[in-house]
Amino acid sequence: MYYRNSLKFKLTLTTRIILFLGVVTCTGSQEIKTQIGKREILGPCKNDKSVLNSSVMWEVHKDGKKTYTVTEKRSFDGGRVRIDTNPYGESNLEINPVRKTDTGRYICKTGPTGNMVTHTNIELIVQFGPKLSWESINRTMHEGETGELWCNASGIPKPTIEWFRKFRVNNDTRYENIGISGNMLRIHNITRYAKDIYKCHASNELGSAEGFINVDVLFPAELEVFEEELQGVNGDLNVEMACAVTANPMVNIVWYKGDEENHIQENNWKYKIQNEDDMKEYYYTTISILKKVYPLEHADFDTYYCKAQNDTGHDIASKAINLARRPEK
Ligand SMILES: *[C@@H]1O[C@H](CO)[C@@H](O)[C@H](O)[C@H]1NC(C)=O
Ligand SMILES: *[C@@H]1O[C@H](CO)[C@@H](O)[C@H](O)[C@H]1NC(C)=O
Ligand SMILES: *[C@@H]1O[C@H](CO)[C@@H](O)[C@H](O)[C@H]1NC(C)=O
Ligand SMILES: *[C@@H]1O[C@H](CO)[C@@H](O)[C@H](O)[C@H]1NC(C)=O
Ligand SMILES: *[C@@H]1O[C@H](CO)[C@@H](O)[C@H](O)[C@H]1NC(C)=O
Ligand SMILES: *[C@@H]1O[C@H](CO)[C@@H](O)[C@H](O)[C@H]1NC(C)=O
Repeated sequence: MYYRNSLKFKLTLTTRIILFLGVVTCTGSQEIKTQIGKREILGPCKNDKSVLNSSVMWEVHKDGKKTYTVTEKRSFDGGRVRIDTNPYGESNLEINPVRKTDTGRYICKTGPTGNMVTHTNIELIVQFGPKLSWESINRTMHEGETGELWCNASGIPKPTIEWFRKFRVNNDTRYENIGISGNMLRIHNITRYAKDIYKCHASNELGSAEGFINVDVLFPAELEVFEEELQGVNGDLNVEMACAVTANPMVNIVWYKGDEENHIQENNWKYKIQNEDDMKEYYYTTISILKKVYPLEHADFDTYYCKAQNDTGHDIASKAINLARRPEK
């Protein structure tokens, strides 16, 4: 294209055309890596002053589109990006200081207006250490679902992401490497035992970043009684009935016999109710013990119910315990 146009020039320009030919052959793209805050000089780009009306122009392309041009007369961003002509007549592009957004393709063109040719073609890559937009987040999932944990760390070169987990059940302060890498950790068929703190560690050659995801797993209440059938005789003391509920969120346990609405009151003269939370060894378990603290009498031989209710008083589950009179021998 250029050669055809240049044939219109006077024959005396021939040597200069050959000179350009030499230049044209070395316009292969070059890759330069830099970092934020640095002073970067892109070049060399030599303007052949002996070519009539030849000037120099740097074009900046980002995402495949030309975004701006810099000439000897016009700098960019208040002079942060400008042409710096050195004593060897090279019109290099100086960027000082480099910003993250300077990543792009830098093309230097020289020649007379309307006849400029590409002289230098540079791919500038601004590298930076990994960054996460959050430090710590809470995630709530439901048992049985498939959950995805994301760790979208920015950074150039693209950070390597590793996942760790702090097992609550071990009461361990260390994080164990799960052995999975990538920006997403998928947990299939999540169970209550996955309620842990997960950590992602993003790193590249310029640094690292960490994010913590506190995962809570919800599951419906499961109610169990220790014995469904108890036996006693009139006058027995200290009869105990026990019920355990496992749930997240935790639910309340109430006891009744006969009238469902008439809950047995804690710590009255006949009964004592003792609730124990066990969140360590077992997961989210509450054990409720109903103690008869008055000698058994005729009316006590009945069916007792242990019932789980949520915070708004809705029934979730219920189990019966039958207190029977021991048969006479
Ligand atoms: C060079 O520039 C001068 C002044 O701007 C103009 O008169 C002349 O035609 C130009 N020559 C060429 C070859 O473009
Ligand atoms: C996560 O949950 C904890 C405890 O429930 C709370 O203290 C903290 O503020 C929560 N963090 C965020 C980022 O929501
Ligand atoms: C993280 O990035 C992926 C694309 O790589 C996107 O699909 C996902 O929604 C992002 N997640 C978050 C939490 O931003
Ligand atoms: C967990 O660790 C803490 C502090 O080291 C300790 O006080 C606690 O008893 C431990 N719990 C269990 C269940 O081991
Ligand atoms: C999910 O886990 C539960 C409990 O471990 C199991 O009974 C069930 O079959 C699992 N479902 C799938 C689809 O893997
Ligand atoms: C309690 O249970 C009822 C019925 O299942 C439900 O509609 C309600 O949202 C629950 N409330 C709480 C606080 O869990």
